[in-house]
Amino acid sequence: MTKIMLKPGPIGVFDSGYGGLTILSEIQKLLPEYDYCYLGDNSRAPYGTRSFDIVYEFTKQAVLALFDMGCNLVILACNTASAKALRTIQQKDLPLIDPDKRVLGVIRPTAEIIGSITRSRHIGVLGTMGTIQSESYPIEIHKLFPDIEITSEACPMWAPLVENREYENEGADYFIKKNLNNVLTKDPQIDTLILGCTHYPLLLHKIKSFLPVGVTALAQGEYVARSLQDYFYRHPEMDNMCTKNSTTRYFTTESTEKFSEAATIFLNKSIEVERITFD
Ligand code: DGL
Repeated sequence: MTKIMLKPGPIGVFDSGYGGLTILSEIQKLLPEYDYCYLGDNSRAPYGTRSFDIVYEFTKQAVLALFDMGCNLVILACNTASAKALRTIQQKDLPLIDPDKRVLGVIRPTAEIIGSITRSRHIGVLGTMGTIQSESYPIEIHKLFPDIEITSEACPMWAPLVENREYENEGADYFIKKNLNNVLTKDPQIDTLILGCTHYPLLLHKIKSFLPVGVTALAQGEYVARSLQDYFYRHPEMDNMCTKNSTTRYFTTESTEKFSEAATIFLNKSIEVERITFD
């Protein structure tokens, strides 16, 4: 049987909603020459409190949609999707869909750098209920750095505050302070907090203002971008499968007006958005 060769295409970037734009913009900063297709499943966000099966089902639909748009490489720029769906998609689905296509997540690149950042070897992980319950961060980090003490804290209100654009308001302060206080009380030796949700960088300046001296909040976008760059060095065959005309298309499953209005805040520029629906 003759093998169908892949045609080069854009890099797919997927998130449940707007949060992945924080990852996309860091990737674009480092790798501006590539083409991108961003897909936000805004009509079904947030994913954070959904079950494993549902997050897997939704994420697989999104990956297939991005493959249909011509992407050969998809980044799950969503911790919840990376935690609950990535492994099954990589191991079970990709060999059947197309063994030459690739899907990567955001948890491993974050786990890889944490060992060189923490000095106290005590860290905290903040994420959605789904990401925390999956224990994906402790599992990945302990494979690389078994000596690091990890304390996790689910922050179920944080992504909805961002998704509903309430994060600048005073109401947000209550929930941010509460979760920071919880995690730092559980382990006062923590010196680094992983923001294990792509929505949280929007809260970064508030988080920083509430943290005691000596505790750093770590946004993952920059590290995901560097890890992708490194991936292309190690996999020139996949680099060759990614087109490079510096274009980006944005897709949402919700209203395009809503998306482009919110995206302007996330990206500091206005964008054209297209709507897609899943069959
Ligand atoms: N952006 C997702 C993440 O990084 C969470 C938001 C949601 O709950 O959908 O985990």
